[in-house]
Amino acid sequence: MTATAPGKIILVGEHAVVYGRPAIAAPVWQCVATATIRAAAPGAGCTLHAHDTGQQLRLDEGSVEEPLLLVARLALAQLGLDRPDWQIDLHSDIPMASGLGSGAALSTALVRAIFRQAGREIDPATLSALVYESERFYHGTPSGIDNTVVAYGQPIWFVKDAAFQPVHPGCALTLVIADSGVRSPTKETVGDVRTAWLQAPARDEAIFDALGETVVQARLAMERGDLPGLGTLLDANQGLLEELAVSSVLLRRLIDVARAAGALGAKLSGGGRGGNVIALVEPAAVDPVCAALRAAGAARVLVTRIE
Ligand code: MEV
Repeated sequence: MTATAPGKIILVGEHAVVYGRPAIAAPVWQCVATATIRAAAPGAGCTLHAHDTGQQLRLDEGSVEEPLLLVARLALAQLGLDRPDWQIDLHSDIPMASGLGSGAALSTALVRAIFRQAGREIDPATLSALVYESERFYHGTPSGIDNTVVAYGQPIWFVKDAAFQPVHPGCALTLVIADSGVRSPTKETVGDVRTAWLQAPARDEAIFDALGETVVQARLAMERGDLPGLGTLLDANQGLLEELAVSSVLLRRLIDVARAAGALGAKLSGGGRGGNVIALVEPAAVDPVCAALRAAGAARVLVTRIE
């Protein structure tokens, strides 16, 4: 039994979304996590092998602090299953700690596969809620946007603690996603933003408000198919994320390279400080922007479309 789940990008609004402002996210099907379950010998118990990290875990041992074990146990409890004899293999080509939602995707694929192996399909709301529990271990204080976009697999307008809304671009968006190659756990940047916010709440609340406003404008530009307008808003979003100190010299360089090669706008995506940048491009600019980012040292370049 096999199940998959996509990576994700935050188009606009990361970090401020943790503080109640809106954000827009979309799935990235060009990189996925996959969970495969096979029956094991009777009495063998349930083992989970996360091939990309080399982790070999047993469901009946180990700390509950391990997010994959936690989410697997929660899924089995929902199904009323107690330690089935299963071998679970997890693979992912989503780079870890890179802003593409690898943690949420692994947990989503895992829970989906567990339900399928038990002969059940899981609805996205239940799936998202289960994966949120593992996100709390990965992130500390997650907004819930990653588990929602990955579980529903569609572009979303998201506000914490509210029902998400699907977003429909007026024309397809082409995005180049470039990996800086620097790993940066979201938990750390989210924690640093929280520390800064506690020290200077008025300043950071004003930045979150400005970020929220760019997201409102970005949705309007997206829905009317105004690509240049949307590009300008991605740039504005990046400027505000720099004020929150979650960008880096390397990310800024990749963003400048993408802009110089013809991107309409570019920004970091996800937690920041490392991980991926996204660049909005006209289809004709895909090749030059990808080539420029590779020449500038991007570890991997993907192209995705939001429609
Ligand atoms: C991570 O993909 C997005 C952040 O806003 C964290 C969160 O929303 O939980 C940085």
